[in-house]
Amino acid sequence: MSSVSKAAITEALSEARERTLALVEPLDDGQLNTVYSPILSPLAWDLGHIANFEELWLVQTIGGREPLHGELGRFYDAIENPRKIRDELPILRDEELRAYMADVRERALDVLEGMDIGPDVDDPLLREGFVYELLLAHELQHNETMLQLLQLVDGYELPAEVEAERNSVVPFGRSESERNHGTGLEVEMVPIEAGEYAIGAPERGFAYDNERPRHTVELAAFGIDRTPVTNGAYIAYMEETGAEPPLYWTRDGDRWLDTARGRREPIDPGRPVIHVSWEQADAFAGWAGKRLPSEFEWEAARPHLDGVGHGWEWTSSDFAAYPGFEAFPYREYSEVFFGDEYKVLRGSSWATHPRVAQPSFRNWDLPQRRQIFSGIRCARDA
Ligand SMILES: [Fe+2]
Repeated sequence: MSSVSKAAITEALSEARERTLALVEPLDDGQLNTVYSPILSPLAWDLGHIANFEELWLVQTIGGREPLHGELGRFYDAIENPRKIRDELPILRDEELRAYMADVRERALDVLEGMDIGPDVDDPLLREGFVYELLLAHELQHNETMLQLLQLVDGYELPAEVEAERNSVVPFGRSESERNHGTGLEVEMVPIEAGEYAIGAPERGFAYDNERPRHTVELAAFGIDRTPVTNGAYIAYMEETGAEPPLYWTRDGDRWLDTARGRREPIDPGRPVIHVSWEQADAFAGWAGKRLPSEFEWEAARPHLDGVGHGWEWTSSDFAAYPGFEAFPYREYSEVFFGDEYKVLRGSSWATHPRVAQPSFRNWDLPQRRQIFSGIRCARDA
């Protein structure tokens, strides 16, 4: 945030909450409590978890106050409670849930009143408002998780602001006719010189622990596509190889339709493909005679890339600690996920709030997952 004033924090928190509530506004309590997928939480859990995380950090940890509902917090622990069982937990629902969200917010703002969040404060949680930035990022990131689930709700309409973000991605392809008839396979590649590149978030300002410390990596020369892989290119690939379509696609005669949210919208060949797994992305890149970029290549090439922001971009990298990594403020955000099980995604998607779409931000997921808004950009050795 440009300013760490309490007024700016209060305003940003309230904007994030408005967005959260706008996402669920069209739904009834029954829909909020429904498990639509074993890999996604019921929305009521997300809402309670957002408020509980706020209570834990801003009210209990910072404010030293007792929780409103005793032991409730343990049911909102994301590590302790796998997504597929979250419906069976005695979590808050309906009116009680809404009241809890509002009560926690009131207490959090009350605590904020009495806190010093200047640059010289000893407590790193409070210094320059770190913990408030963390809370904001957390709520906005859960908005994206909620949007993943909302793709499964038939007839769901995106809030106008989010729909505008989704539509703001301009289709690629050089001309209207090329977009409609070409496959978009001929993609300009940006050459990146061999050398040392600084990777990670600067020392100051908000970032997650896994983005630090900033360090230098040595890269060999490589080329990277200026634009992400389009739907048209992915269709050409499927037609040639018989590969599986992205999630939510269905065939209708000789065209493909997007069925997310129960719609039947023709796939625009010029737009970047999304809802592909790492396995699909990796296979596509191989078929195109290329490969996925490493996350360091991606970050080094970021200033030259077009079309970042429609879909997360899979990289070839496992989610690993940077040299000198220190967990902060808690191990469960990143450290427990390090290893070769998860692949890193970079960039952001149309469902990501711009505030959390930082160039050093590292997202991660299992290689078979495609409920996330994940796409492809290819690279090649020079
Ligand atoms: Fe969370």
